[in-house]
Amino acid sequence: VGVKAPQEQRFLLISGSLRASSTNTAVLRTLAGVAPASVDCVLYGGLEDLPPFNPDADGPSLPPEVERLRAAIHGADAVVFSTPEYAGALPGSLKNLLDWTIGDDQVGSIYGKPVGWINPSDRGAAGAYGELRTVLRYAHAHVVDDACVHTPINSAMVGPDGLVDDQDLRSALAALVDALSAARTAA
Ligand SMILES: Cc1cc2nc3c(=O)[nH]c(=O)nc-3n(C[C@H](O)[C@H](O)[C@H](O)COP(=O)(O)O)c2cc1C
Repeated sequence: VGVKAPQEQRFLLISGSLRASSTNTAVLRTLAGVAPASVDCVLYGGLEDLPPFNPDADGPSLPPEVERLRAAIHGADAVVFSTPEYAGALPGSLKNLLDWTIGDDQVGSIYGKPVGWINPSDRGAAGAYGELRTVLRYAHAHVVDDACVHTPINSAMVGPDGLVDDQDLRSALAALVDALSAARTAA
């Protein structure tokens, strides 16, 4: 992850799906393509490598992937999620990631940081996104309501390039990026 220019913003994109052909990850890749050049989008790739959350391990010497996760959050001006719903709830791997963010008391943690999400589920996924809001509130993230959007897509809309070629989605993503760019870290 390179050094960003002073006028640039960086968004960290976190998918709750580990599937290679994930629609949620495709949506985040599409967001990176829609964002203006002034917004540097970084797709988080370590979800599968995070150890199960253990408060005993949350000390000065963190597991390496937890260090990388926290550094990625510290380096981001905002975070965007997109996640499937599993069994009416958040995927366990994403809840695990979020649990690792709670104990971070360093400058740049998720505390006060603008966050948003794109929900691409054609079945609503109300359980998953309700839980996401609950956990992000608990983490004291700054949930930017205008950057929390629901635009259903299906897997057939993901092209061979791994992007979603759908104007409604692209418009929703552009609006999300604008709303999150305008938001500032809450005190
Ligand atoms: C074990 C399992 C449980 C699921 N549970 C739900 C669910 O409760 N609600 C729902 O809307 N979809 C559910 N789904 C469907 C996924 O959320 C859906 O396929 C989603 O698009 C997968 O996201 P991805 O393409 O990014 O991997 C479930 C899928 C699996 C494999």
